[in-house]
Amino acid sequence: MSKVKVGFIGAGTIAKAHAAGMGFIASQAQVAAVCDVNQDAAQSLAGELGATVYTSHKDMLAKEKLDIVLICLPHYLHCPVGLEVLRAGIHLFLEKPMAITTAECRELITCAERHNRSIFVGQTHQYRTTCRKARELISSGAIGEPRIITTEIVAYYNWEKRKPWFLDPAKAGGGALFNTSPHQIDHLLYLIDSPISRVRAKVEALRPGQSVDSDSIAFIEYENGVCGMFYVFQGTKQEDAPRVLVKVMGTAGSITFAPFSEEVTLSRMDTMEKISVKDNDNPMAREWREFIQAIRENRQPITDGYYGGNVVAVLEAMIESSRTHNAVKPERLN
Ligand SMILES: NC(=O)c1ccc[n+]([C@@H]2O[C@H](COP(=O)([O-])OP(=O)(O)OC[C@H]3O[C@@H](n4cnc5c(N)ncnc54)[C@H](O)[C@@H]3O)[C@@H](O)[C@H]2O)c1
Repeated sequence: MSKVKVGFIGAGTIAKAHAAGMGFIASQAQVAAVCDVNQDAAQSLAGELGATVYTSHKDMLAKEKLDIVLICLPHYLHCPVGLEVLRAGIHLFLEKPMAITTAECRELITCAERHNRSIFVGQTHQYRTTCRKARELISSGAIGEPRIITTEIVAYYNWEKRKPWFLDPAKAGGGALFNTSPHQIDHLLYLIDSPISRVRAKVEALRPGQSVDSDSIAFIEYENGVCGMFYVFQGTKQEDAPRVLVKVMGTAGSITFAPFSEEVTLSRMDTMEKISVKDNDNPMAREWREFIQAIRENRQPITDGYYGGNVVAVLEAMIESSRTHNAVKPERLN
């Protein structure tokens, strides 16, 4: 089977992680082109990958015959540039969050369907071995019926060193909530097999001089009666940070894991087991394998546009709940 030809738009921090992930699937895919408005960034990444350099994505789309384009751009560009990729007849890999509004996510989905192309959204956490093991254990009944899920991230946002676009609400969509918390919504949607029916949230911009949110908390209710607690705290330095922790408590036990670690803890009545999930694979490589396989099998990938859109819908519901002081039902895209 011939190799899939990939183009990158955006050659910043996460594009480098994707380049590393591509190394694991070198027999299946090849990065043919890298585009960044910053020529040095494009050149440096393209040099590593043996790819052609572009500083305009329009030129890249016009000149290259690509199968998949990866977008690693500031959030406000995901939708407009994503639409151009789909209209060029190319499958679209979007970094999280899929876009900055649910309406934009719908526009991308409609465009993909019209052009018979697929969208993949890089909700990386569910491609981590910790998350996968947790879901496998929950599905096998290891903790009985899940009743409560908690997802917390406490990590300084590096306000002083952060690239300016992350601190501009028009470009980032929000602060910690749109940048960090798509991963937490992924925990909530991936580990509990039921739609979220209501959220009650408080979203706050506590960092002096900054207008994007830094700290949020939400109470989540699912259609099947499970409840969740979510918080992200990135405003100030904390003694015990960074801390990323997910816990699911059920009628017969609980599961706890730090997504970036290599183990999952399973507690049942009087026993506690630490299960190693160490492997030599890479979460980005798993994302790429899933997308390429889905395209070859002519099916939607697991984290498709509907999934990515549902993540954004929960974020929007949190903002709306915080603004109105009411519980809000997130939109459902499928
Ligand atoms: N999945 C994950 O774990 C994860 C981690 C970090 C970031 N991300 C996501 O990846 C995306 C990019 O984040 P980042 O940290 O790499 O940002 P970044 O600022 O490091 O990189 C963005 C790049 O886009 C380039 N750029 C801006 N406008 C452009 C345009 N019109 N055409 C071409 N290039 C342009 C910039 O020059 C920059 O090099 C965001 O959606 C972010 O949320 C995901």
